[in-house]
Amino acid sequence: METVLSTNLDNSGRIDANKTNFAKDVPKIARYTLADSADNNIGMDYHVQIVTKDDKLRILKFLRRFFFRDEPLNHCIQLIPESEDSTCLELEEYCSMSTLENNLSLMAVSTSGAIVGVLLNGKMDPPCEGDPEYITSCENPKFKKILRLLRYVDQNVNRSGQYEGLNILEIRILSVDSSWRGKGIAKTLVEKTIEIGKEKGFHMVRADCSSFFSGKLCARLGFERIYELKYADYVDEDGNPVFNPAFPHTSIISYIKKL
Ligand SMILES: CC(C)(COP(=O)(O)OP(=O)(O)OC[C@H]1O[C@@H](n2cnc3c(N)ncnc32)[C@H](O)[C@@H]1OP(=O)(O)O)[C@@H](O)C(=O)NCCC(=O)NCCS
Repeated sequence: METVLSTNLDNSGRIDANKTNFAKDVPKIARYTLADSADNNIGMDYHVQIVTKDDKLRILKFLRRFFFRDEPLNHCIQLIPESEDSTCLELEEYCSMSTLENNLSLMAVSTSGAIVGVLLNGKMDPPCEGDPEYITSCENPKFKKILRLLRYVDQNVNRSGQYEGLNILEIRILSVDSSWRGKGIAKTLVEKTIEIGKEKGFHMVRADCSSFFSGKLCARLGFERIYELKYADYVDEDGNPVFNPAFPHTSIISYIKKL
């Protein structure tokens, strides 16, 4: 298990990316909080660990509470009804699909043992003609709209053929507990993904960012912006935008980073 310590927190409560360490880099005894110097971070230590199949139910529970509701596309089409225990089984399947058992996905866990962030990664499928079976057979019309958008983006990214034959690690789901946002957890998870991608011999990491904030993060981490689709330009047969996410989420942007 690898650990990110609150020693990376500066006095403003942010985690300094340049000082991000994992447990293997620091003595285990060095674990402590900055409670004395940063009141707003009391109890906000966390570590990062690889997701295993045993974490599946906890991960899905976390994602149902956050990602399923507040990811900009899910939110704007009200993917799931408001009631506490509702879900979208198709999205659950998408999250589980080759991401929970591949040793490529990560979660941030607080000292009290709660999941506070999740990043699900997977090996990118090679481009194919036509819609894959999981899209054509999707019975949830709202989720199908999202799958079609992602497919449209993917087709445009691969139009030139320049990524053909490359081994690409795909960031599929990124979600942080709303009480823990703005503290660099997503940044830490993406940095760790880059590390894993290098270790496992991937050529590139790619993220299709539906959120302004995840896009900003990728840009900050040196990803190259390779494709942008403004939501206003992605329209249905009547010319109306299919998605109207709240500002500042105006585009879906594909970012790629060579490893
Ligand atoms: C996107 C998300 C994962 C970011 O998690 P996070 O841990 O808060 O992100 P970080 O703290 O690492 O910050 C990443 C960048 O976004 C900025 N940011 C994050 N939330 C912000 C907010 N509400 N307002 C302004 N800036 C914000 C940070 O300042 C940082 O940019 P910087 O490095 O230029 O300062 C989180 O907001 C989330 O779970 N959103 C809902 C799900 C979602 O949209 N997922 C991404 C889909 S592609």
